[in-house]
Amino acid sequence: MDILKWSDELSVGSDVLDAHHKHLFVLLTEIGRAARGGGGLGVVVGVLAELTDYIAYHFREEEAMMEKVAFPLLAQHRASHEAIAMKVHEMAERVDVGNFRTFVAELQAFLEEWLIHHIEIEDFEYRPYMGVQPD
Ligand SMILES: [Fe+2]
Repeated sequence: MDILKWSDELSVGSDVLDAHHKHLFVLLTEIGRAARGGGGLGVVVGVLAELTDYIAYHFREEEAMMEKVAFPLLAQHRASHEAIAMKVHEMAERVDVGNFRTFVAELQAFLEEWLIHHIEIEDFEYRPYMGVQPD
């Protein structure tokens, strides 16, 4: 399976937020590695804890930026951020040795789908407010 990577086409028009998104891809790559047998439960638990913190940090910064540029869909994005933060937290609670393989595969698929959706669908909505001209 191809490793998901950040590319220029995923830029949201902010170097800071692009850097956050790049880091999220790095964390997902680490989970992917663990899913393919390159790490055990400890690796996944560690990355998940880091991911939970980093997602919360990214959302806070993103929302602050949306507020700054008077993005009109802030409330909608805030709700979506909350739902995802809750889901990731819930998955982090579920990790245990018994269901480890299934869990990691499910976690990886969910996060990859979420990250692409988060950037390409949701975050692209604020791109014009960051001064990015539509294609
Ligand atoms: Fe984002």
